[in-house]
Amino acid sequence: MIHAVYPGSFDPMHNGHADVVRRASRIYDKLTVAVLDNPSKRDPLFTTDERIEILRETTADMANVTVDRFEGLLAEYMRTLGAAVIVKGLRAISDFEYELQMAHLNRNLNPDVETTFIMTATRWSYVSSTRVKELARYGADVSRLVPPATLRRLEAKLGDGVARHADPQPPRR
Ligand code: PNS
Repeated sequence: MIHAVYPGSFDPMHNGHADVVRRASRIYDKLTVAVLDNPSKRDPLFTTDERIEILRETTADMANVTVDRFEGLLAEYMRTLGAAVIVKGLRAISDFEYELQMAHLNRNLNPDVETTFIMTATRWSYVSSTRVKELARYGADVSRLVPPATLRRLEAKLGDGVARHADPQPPRR
């Protein structure tokens, strides 16, 4: 039984994250999506509880996926869970250097853990939580970039300009 962990800030979850969760859930027996609970670090738009709610709602149909929060070092959290694999999404070469460093650090801290990468689907390769928040703050349509659970909460927080030109069909590439 391989237990994998997909860690992240998920502030908020977007379609690239959803794609990685779905694909990882098909590879591993059990997948924990782990939200970094570190309110002192940045200035998140969503609380940890809100980010968890979005993730739970969006992954409700995936029986082997659970959502959790963690504090401190990921390598230690992996130890407490008894999980063997870290899953990360890679969008572009620009992600690689940072992820390579993290993978080496985590392996150094916990040699029992392997980091694996899932290449984000091309059609979501330009999507990040930071850009989604920026677009939504300007009232742009982000309905094609995020799951419905995220869109609803963005509307509630930032106003309904967020879904002004709602079109549920993402461009396919
Ligand atoms: O979604 P993000 O912001 O890219 O996620 C980054 C995350 C949460 C995976 C990373 O910051 C992390 O693992 N933080 C926990 C602290 C840690 O273990 N750092 C690595 C050694 S410095």
